[in-house]
Amino acid sequence: MKTFCLLLLAALAVGDLAYSESDPQTTPVLPWWKTTIIYQIYPRSFKDSDGDGIGDLQGIISELQHFQYLGVETLWLSPFYKSPQKDFGYDISDQRDVDPMFGSIEDFRKLVAEAKKLGLRTIVDFVPNHTSTDHDWFQKSVRREGKYTDYYVWSDGKTLPNGTVVAPNNWLSVFYGSAWEWNDQRQQYYLHQFIKEQADLNYRNPDVREEILLAMRYWLDFGIDGLRMDAIGQLYEVTDLSLDEPLSGAPGVPLNEYDSLLHPYTNFLPEVKDEIIRWQTMLDGMEKVDGRQRFMVLEYYTDSDSRAKMAEYGAHPFNFDLVDNLDIPTNASQIMALISEEYMDKPASYWPTFVIGNHDRNRVASKYNPRNANAFNMLLLTLKGTPTTYYGEEIAMEDIDVAYNESQDPWGINAGPDRYRLVSRDFNRSPMQWTSVSEAGFTTGKPWLPVNPDYLTVNVASEKLNPKSPLNLYKEYAALRQLNAFKYGDIDVNVITNDNVLSFLREFGSERYLVCINLGQSPSTDDYSQGAVNSPTGVVIATTGNVPSAQDKFSTVSLDSLTLQPGQGLVLKL
Ligand code: NOJ
Repeated sequence: MKTFCLLLLAALAVGDLAYSESDPQTTPVLPWWKTTIIYQIYPRSFKDSDGDGIGDLQGIISELQHFQYLGVETLWLSPFYKSPQKDFGYDISDQRDVDPMFGSIEDFRKLVAEAKKLGLRTIVDFVPNHTSTDHDWFQKSVRREGKYTDYYVWSDGKTLPNGTVVAPNNWLSVFYGSAWEWNDQRQQYYLHQFIKEQADLNYRNPDVREEILLAMRYWLDFGIDGLRMDAIGQLYEVTDLSLDEPLSGAPGVPLNEYDSLLHPYTNFLPEVKDEIIRWQTMLDGMEKVDGRQRFMVLEYYTDSDSRAKMAEYGAHPFNFDLVDNLDIPTNASQIMALISEEYMDKPASYWPTFVIGNHDRNRVASKYNPRNANAFNMLLLTLKGTPTTYYGEEIAMEDIDVAYNESQDPWGINAGPDRYRLVSRDFNRSPMQWTSVSEAGFTTGKPWLPVNPDYLTVNVASEKLNPKSPLNLYKEYAALRQLNAFKYGDIDVNVITNDNVLSFLREFGSERYLVCINLGQSPSTDDYSQGAVNSPTGVVIATTGNVPSAQDKFSTVSLDSLTLQPGQGLVLKL
């Protein structure tokens, strides 16, 4: 044990991948995306290089060393394509160009190349379900020009007995109100499952499917490493547009809100599977040619069983259980139940993809109590599976407050002043906090959303100076993933779990680690020494920074009576 500690101390002194114990003879060869950390960059909010208050590609290039510092290897860029920005880039008017506010194609090329030089991979967001109504395809479709006539889902609507023409059915937009909008020029309704400026493409048209494949291919040919596919649940709708969706009966949900209906006719129709297979086949085909694996991760909010079914045909949906399905305040048993499902009765092709926050949901530190910020990062980075970190989680950024009349997000605006707090995404999209200078070093201009006033202390530069800051703890958790047990090892979730603590083992051969975290509301003293752990003591190799000195890093602690306060977590070498 003493030798291990000395080795550990020596290794820590020399660099980031301090804990490496790799033995190339015995470790398995895994696809890169199983051992990576994905970091989501929301370009508008990451770093502004030209003072217009909006982040851009040059800004990202200027901060690439941040990812090296963290030990993160894969960057996912949310949309930076040409767009009127009605849904902040998820309304694309040209899938093959960069919006001037973010830079140019050359900037993108440079970003990918510079990232590669630093050993970083790039994944881009791709929006297959809809385009902006400013898109050339939509404009041509409105004019019924040739093959574009049926590129979108059009309907004459329904004629009421009194002669009035109304939308063909009761379908609702995810972002409030009817999913149908009348187009005067074409004299028809078009479908939009999101805002009215995001027209749904008609996937029953083979030309559309081909266009989308070619556009995906266009970005893949820049040498990127994969795609994050947006809103795949909405790709197909039934062809019989007279079908109304049934009421969900969800209590307290107004009838113009998406959740007031069930979505059997518009969400995840069986045809979606064929589309995913088509896309994956293209990626596999590219791999056959150049030997490079590309990763495709899907945005689809569903449960563990459906994810498992999707894995059977090679799909990798994000797991949003920790984003959407946790009670507040958090309860460790509930969290562990959701996590355990990921490892139970799954097809061999199943691979967990954990997420704790994104650009659509409140930040983890705000939602689940700021005291748990480091604990959630510890959890995310030590579980078996591919973790995705939303920008700012590494410094424990919290949501900002935005008044209704200053709202930018169309979802929040459509919800109205009484309900916007339930859905607005402005709160969790505030600028990245780099330094303690004005506007947190994000911009020299006026940021598009306010910077969180806590930036004076919560920022990258200040946190670098404190060994126990969220930033430096994140870096330590990321480094743990270089250990065989965390990189290749199995997970045993049958350890101690109660309403306050959850714990699990990561093991590879004789290398064994215990992770125990209190995400509950009260202290918990537990005996970990028995059962699967079967060890009287453990050496602390990572903490949440807020533990008593007897549990500090490199301490040997007794496992038969280990107390963790709310928000405290330990990783122990057994
Ligand atoms: C899901 C994206 O994550 C969200 O930000 C966007 O508004 C919708 N899809 C529509 O593209």
